[in-house]
Amino acid sequence: MFPDLAGKRALVTGGTRGIGRAVVLGLAQAGATVVVGHQRQTEDAESLRRELKDTGNDHLLVQADVADPAQITELLSAAGTHLGGSLDIVVNSVGTISHIPYADLPLDAWTQVLTTNLTATHLVTQGALPLLGDSGTVVNIGSGAGLVGVPLRAHYTAAKTGLIGLTRSLSKELGSKGIRVNLVSPGVIETDQAAGMPPAARAAYTNRIPLGRLGEANEVAAVVLFLASDVSSYVNGATFTVDGGI
Ligand SMILES: NC(=O)c1ccc[n+]([C@@H]2O[C@H](COP(=O)([O-])OP(=O)(O)OC[C@H]3O[C@@H](n4cnc5c(N)ncnc54)[C@H](OP(=O)(O)O)[C@@H]3O)[C@@H](O)[C@H]2O)c1
Repeated sequence: MFPDLAGKRALVTGGTRGIGRAVVLGLAQAGATVVVGHQRQTEDAESLRRELKDTGNDHLLVQADVADPAQITELLSAAGTHLGGSLDIVVNSVGTISHIPYADLPLDAWTQVLTTNLTATHLVTQGALPLLGDSGTVVNIGSGAGLVGVPLRAHYTAAKTGLIGLTRSLSKELGSKGIRVNLVSPGVIETDQAAGMPPAARAAYTNRIPLGRLGEANEVAAVVLFLASDVSSYVNGATFTVDGGI
């Protein structure tokens, strides 16, 4: 089912949990060598390290808080060194969310969510350009929330809608340099976040999803892998919703 990514070199941010983790494992199983960015030393990071060992290739996990531009520089430097100075695939999956009434939204919560979801994607992508050279593919992870707007998430939706603009502009600016830039916009996916959802909220979402269930991280990763591979060689500037038709 997965495209052949043998010999490809990839960087994935936010890769130890949820959608990012499914992307990392999918890329590795398809033959790519992957550098994974994450924030904390956790059992999730350790278990991913173990799982990656079984996929062959020499993958690397790098602890780097993307809220700190200096740590993004270190992440890119580690990726460059580990991958022999070049990259084929960048997946910006890192993100964070909070639910706060807009009237009470403090500036630090706004800044944190904008920084982690939007500014980090910009800095990682810009910093990766010398490694991508004159070919490559960038996949940004947005959110269905950024397409429709959601109460209590003004900061999150602003960041995710910003990713659409970033993706569209970069697809036009970098396309002529041989770099494709696309966005995947997941709906409600079974991740740590969904696990903490109150049963009434889960039921409300499920009732609105024509496929009658939340999505799986692997189902988002499958579309990311398509965009990361040469199978999608003429796809550029696109937004792919993976949301069960909600
Ligand atoms: N889950 C959903 O239903 C859903 C729906 C729509 C869109 N999305 C988007 O999909 C992406 C992945 O979401 P998810 O729910 O799968 O994520 P998740 O399970 O919350 O995992 C987040 C990942 O990002 C890392 N991370 C968080 N803050 C970081 C920081 N400041 N610096 C470096 N790494 C950081 C975490 O590392 P640590 O474990 O080390 O903290 C972890 O690997 C996000 O962009 C999210 O907005 C998710």
